[in-house]
Amino acid sequence: MPHIKPRQIVIDTDPGIDDAIGILLALASSEFSIAGITTVAGNIGIDTTTRNAGRLLAFAGRNDIPVFKGAAAPLSRPGPEPLNLHGKEGIGGVDLPAPARQPEGRSAVEWLTEFLLNEPAGTIDIFALGPLTNIARLILDNPEAAKRIGRIITMGGVIYEAGNVGPRSEFNLWADPEAADVVVSSGLPLVLVPLDVTRRVRATREFTAALSASGKPLASMVADLIGSYFETSTHQESRPLHDPCVMLFALAPELFRMEDLRLSVSTGPTGEAGALIIGETGAPVQVATGVDGPAALDLLARTLASS
Ligand code: BDR
Ligand code: CA
Repeated sequence: MPHIKPRQIVIDTDPGIDDAIGILLALASSEFSIAGITTVAGNIGIDTTTRNAGRLLAFAGRNDIPVFKGAAAPLSRPGPEPLNLHGKEGIGGVDLPAPARQPEGRSAVEWLTEFLLNEPAGTIDIFALGPLTNIARLILDNPEAAKRIGRIITMGGVIYEAGNVGPRSEFNLWADPEAADVVVSSGLPLVLVPLDVTRRVRATREFTAALSASGKPLASMVADLIGSYFETSTHQESRPLHDPCVMLFALAPELFRMEDLRLSVSTGPTGEAGALIIGETGAPVQVATGVDGPAALDLLARTLASS
């Protein structure tokens, strides 16, 4: 089989249990080369999300990958209170080592700007797993660098269903709706992976036990993370794997049904903030609206077990 050069990616993230699973999946895949991880406040505060990124890299023995601390608060409104959906230390209290490397001195946006300007245009993709504050700041302050992004693939929003923090609002867009508005309306190549899809990629206890039984370190750690996710809501029979769907889409877009929609983001009061509006005045976005859930889970398990 011909060797395919891995795609360079930056993961912008607020780990977060499902963020952590997405990061481990990206680390396990030979199709990605992770140039850096940029962090954002979201599931928990910025110091904890940044530390969690470093802990995951230390666990995976990937201390060659730098971590850059990003936004501590949304662009223009107070940050949300942590939801405490992600348990102890925002990552379910799983047994991870301390970071082996400190976060870099430069901020997430400073580094992203320099990195994008130094690499060939169109060759860097951003996988955005949290509130979109860092990406919006890059677009607003350094549009020439932002234009060089290959594409942004982001977990966020909801199209045809109810939200998870408001009637029509999903957490990542709701947490910083002004940032989401900047990113969606920027016209940059954008793939949105909303709740309509991520709710259908669900880990059961049986799936989790099989991951654990594989005996592979990354798969076992993902099993522990999902196990802790069950602990935060013991009555559930399965748990949605939101953020890993970004990596799964990049690995196997054929597993997803896509729609080209024109979208805008509500920046209204808390109850509707982050809601997506479909209409002619919106910007074009490629939106995943369906997925073969079992095939996506199978790909996740195979990729984790391969490393
Ligand atoms: C999103 O919100 C966060 O809690 C998860 O990490 C995911 O990015 C799901 O709505
Ligand atoms: Ca997240």
